[in-house]
Amino acid sequence: MRLKVDYNNMLAGYSKAAAAITPQEIAALKDKAAEAFQFIAQNRGKGTMEWSELPYNQDAVVADILQEAKAIREKCDTFVVLGIGGSALGPIAVQQALNHLNYNELPAEKRGGPRVYVLDNIDPERISGILDIIDPKKTVFNVITKSGSTSETMSQYLIFREILKGALGEDYAGHIVATTDAENGYLVKIAAQEGFKAFVIPAGVGGRFSEMCPVGLLAAAVAGIDIREMLAGAAAMDKIASNTDIMQNPACLGGLLQYIAMQKGMNITVMMPYADSLRYMADWYAQLWAESLGKQYALDGKTEVFTGQTPVKALGVTDQHSQVQLYTEGPFDKVVTFLAVEKFRCDVTIPHGHEDIPAVGFLGGHTMAELLEAEMNATEYALYKAKRLSCKVTLPEVNAFTIGELLYFFEMQVSFVGALLGIDTFNQPGVEEGKVATYALLGRPGFEEKKAELDARPAK
Ligand code: PA5
Repeated sequence: MRLKVDYNNMLAGYSKAAAAITPQEIAALKDKAAEAFQFIAQNRGKGTMEWSELPYNQDAVVADILQEAKAIREKCDTFVVLGIGGSALGPIAVQQALNHLNYNELPAEKRGGPRVYVLDNIDPERISGILDIIDPKKTVFNVITKSGSTSETMSQYLIFREILKGALGEDYAGHIVATTDAENGYLVKIAAQEGFKAFVIPAGVGGRFSEMCPVGLLAAAVAGIDIREMLAGAAAMDKIASNTDIMQNPACLGGLLQYIAMQKGMNITVMMPYADSLRYMADWYAQLWAESLGKQYALDGKTEVFTGQTPVKALGVTDQHSQVQLYTEGPFDKVVTFLAVEKFRCDVTIPHGHEDIPAVGFLGGHTMAELLEAEMNATEYALYKAKRLSCKVTLPEVNAFTIGELLYFFEMQVSFVGALLGIDTFNQPGVEEGKVATYALLGRPGFEEKKAELDARPAK
């Protein structure tokens, strides 16, 4: 069950856009693209590209996850992920994609597994709000942090640990699962001290590339999602993305087209799923694209270069009625990527009615999936007519396999764009700066110098 891609609306000959990409522009980058491809081929599985092997090397980890998930499903009615950024956006996207859209509201017997919440923020109203709807005695908290020290996640951990201790006494440790680095950071030490079940985030798997390691797989397995199928989908996409002929390699070809579009001033990438199940894929993609490609470096050690494309999240059809006006008539600075679904898991037929009013009656007999598809094609056409660039990735169905394919597709694509740009795709110094400044502002020992640096700013 393969994803389908359609790049016609980015290519001269089909697209009428001034920025449409010509065969000559693609040909001119043949060597550069081959070098970028080689870079990935040589570095995959090593260092910060360890994530590329996640589809293959996790048999023992998957067995451990399934066993833990079974135990959690038996003892609990709620599973709460505590994490932020790459430790939350993958789990959110996958839960939304593969569970019933009202999963947490379903009666337990229909749901079949615990409710799953991902607390990806520290808003005090949200933190205390969750306490109104859970019973700590029947809840397992999964603390996820690669660095093992992110303030947001560790503060959540301290809060829920205290609550669990109050509710369960000495048994509280059985209600916390830690997912973190094998050696670095403080969570791994705390987990050993307190006796928490722990899962490892492999050293070379960065946050935004971590959905298909225990970061996302445990929450998925707890909800009954077939995690082996997800990994099989990723492996299938890896084969496709390993084709050395870029023109036959949709992940890298898409990356090359985005790269050329960026050189032509397309500084914004809009991710627009036409399916509620995929709406948070846009959030996951936004982080992947922004943190991976938004980089500053000194070319030849001197000239400052700033790279990246600003991701925008949109949802079809909802944002047709808000953002599409800008996409069709605003600045020529965007590439819109549609995420389409060929076959929805269910459909609803629009009843016949008001046939005496043709402007309403024409809807009767069509299905909502047909209407959604027509709306997406109409938006694609509106962009085409306005001479804008767009492309489309279609999932035959939304299932564990195609979601694995989709995640891996964009992970490979962003890595390829990063290699073309000659940047470090896998670091995030700008994010780290904010984390360190937070430590300094709240008085973490060892960050006194950073605090002095902050205090030296002009007074407001
Ligand atoms: O992609 C990344 O590496 C970041 O966005 C991190 O995921 C995020 O900052 C959370 O970090 P950690 O998992 O260390 O708590």
